Amino acid sequence: MTTPAPPALPPVTGHRGAKGHAPENTMAGLKKAVDLGARWVEFDVKLTADNELVLIHDDTVNRTSNGKGAVAGMTLSDIRKLDAGRWFSADFTGEPVPTLAEAMDYLAAKGIGANVEVKACPGREAETGAAVARALAGRWFGGPAPILISSFSTDSLAAAGQAAPQIPRGFLTLKFIKDWAARMDELKCATFHVLDRRFTEARTRAIREAGYRPLAYTVNDPARARELLSWGVESIITDYPDRILAAIK
Ligand code: G3P
Ligand code: MG
Repeated sequence: MTTPAPPALPPVTGHRGAKGHAPENTMAGLKKAVDLGARWVEFDVKLTADNELVLIHDDTVNRTSNGKGAVAGMTLSDIRKLDAGRWFSADFTGEPVPTLAEAMDYLAAKGIGANVEVKACPGREAETGAAVARALAGRWFGGPAPILISSFSTDSLAAAGQAAPQIPRGFLTLKFIKDWAARMDELKCATFHVLDRRFTEARTRAIREAGYRPLAYTVNDPARARELLSWGVESIITDYPDRILAAIK
C-alpha cells in the first residue's frame, strides 16, 4: 500500500466545525467555520445501530443533545429526532445530528476540505473505519472537497486503508509515542495529528524530517498557534478559526 497524501493544508482547520461558536458536529457548526474563513473543517463520525454514518463525538448522545443513550444502540431515525443545538444555545434550537452525506455534500458544494475523524463506538473500530472510507470513496473522494481520514484507532485506520487505500490518512495521538514513525509507516499515514502541548520545536522538526506532516489540536491561543506554525506545524485545529486567522494575517 502506498501513502496517499492530501493537498497542502491551510494553517487553520475548524474543530468539530467551529466548536467555540456553534454546536459541535452540526451543519450550523460546519457553516459557521466556513463563514469565519476556515478552508478545512474537522468533524467526528460514528456508525448508528443501523449502520448509518453520523457526526457526533461522544459514545452517547447525552452531552450534545436533548436525548439520552448510546449512539451504538440508536438507529438513524432515533438520532434524527434529537435536538443537537439547544444544549449549546437557544439560537441553535432544532439543529439535528447530521449524516456524513449531508456534511460532505455541503463541503463539496463549497470546496472545503474535510478532515473526517473516525470516532468509532467501542468495539466497532474496524467496521467504522471501513464504512467511512467506502462511503467517501464512493461519492466524494476526488471531487471538489479534499478529504483526509484521521483516527486515534489504528484498527480504524487500517480498515479505512484496506477499504479505500487511495484516501489520505492521518494518525491521531494524545501522546508523542516513541514508535510514532513506525506506526505512521505501517498505517501509511501522511499526516500526524498531535495534542498541542506535546509539541516542541525539535519534535516538529523530527516529524517533518521523517517526511510526515504535523497537525496540532486543539489550539485556541493565537500566540501558541503562531509559535506552532513557525516551527512547521502545517495546520492548527481550533474551536475559533476566526481568532487564529486574525492572528496570522
Ligand atoms: O482531530 C483532532 C481532534 O478532534 C481530536 O480530538 O476528542 O476533539 O475528537 P477530539
Ligand atoms: Mg475530533
